[in-house]
Formats: sequence, structure tokens, C-alpha cells
Amino acid sequence: MNKFELKALGLAGIVIIIFLFALLYNAYSRKINVPNCVPLSEQSTYFKNPGLKKVDDSTFDLYITAQMWAFIPSDVTVPKGSTVHIYITSKDVVHGFLIDRKAVNLMVIPGAINTATVKFDVAGNYHMTCHEYCGTGHQNMEGNIKVTE
Ligand code: CUA
Repeated sequence: MNKFELKALGLAGIVIIIFLFALLYNAYSRKINVPNCVPLSEQSTYFKNPGLKKVDDSTFDLYITAQMWAFIPSDVTVPKGSTVHIYITSKDVVHGFLIDRKAVNLMVIPGAINTATVKFDVAGNYHMTCHEYCGTGHQNMEGNIKVTE
């Protein structure tokens, strides 16, 4: 084998080992939190009637179904100071889910549920957007979370 090929193979092997080490280090030592994914069958009953479910005065569970080309529900209202646990899945293709000014950026995958928890401390309108191209109506796939005083 050519000595340059051997060097390239060795280098590729070292890079793979570095990546594997970085992955395991971040997953176990730094406990990096990636969005959760729950099998759809475990919670499918909630998605037959998606919407906002009140847990207590400042805590809500929000079940969202994404489909071509809407979020159901697309308009949600919660009071200021609320903590919202979001559970989202897709009926058809892969969509995206992003909330403006909040650290929420999920993939929406048929057959799986992705989750995020958001606290809304400031009143206003928070735009939800599909950020994954999902067909000819993709640009219209949006919604709003209204946070009231
Ligand atoms: Cu749904 Cu783009």
C-alpha cells in the first residue's frame, strides 16, 4: 500500500477516535442534555386531542401535532411566569419547531415525540415556526404563543 494512503488511513483513524472520545466525554462526564425523544406509542393518546393542559396555575403541558402545513394548536395563550412542557410529534413528514427568543429548536418526527420545557417570564407574542422544508406550504407553517400579563 502507498505510504500516503497509509498516512491518510492512520489520520482518519485518529480523527474517529477523537470524535468518539468527545462524544462519550460530553454524554457521560458533562451530561450534555439533548432533546428527549419518547416512542410515540407511549403517549399517543394525548395526540388524539392535542392542546394545552393545565397542570397548576403556572405549569402547563402543551401537546402539539404538526402536519402539512400547520401546528395544531397554532395559537396558545398562557399567563406570564408560566412553565410550559412541550410535547410535539408529526402526523406526516419531518417538520421543524422553533420558538422565537426562546432556546427551543426541535425536529418534529413522525413516530416519535420530542420535548422541551420553556419558562415565559416576559409577556408578549412568541412566534412558532417550522424551520424544516416540508413541502409546498412550508412557508405558511407557523403559530403563536401569547403570554399575557
Ligand atoms: Cu412543516 Cu416546514
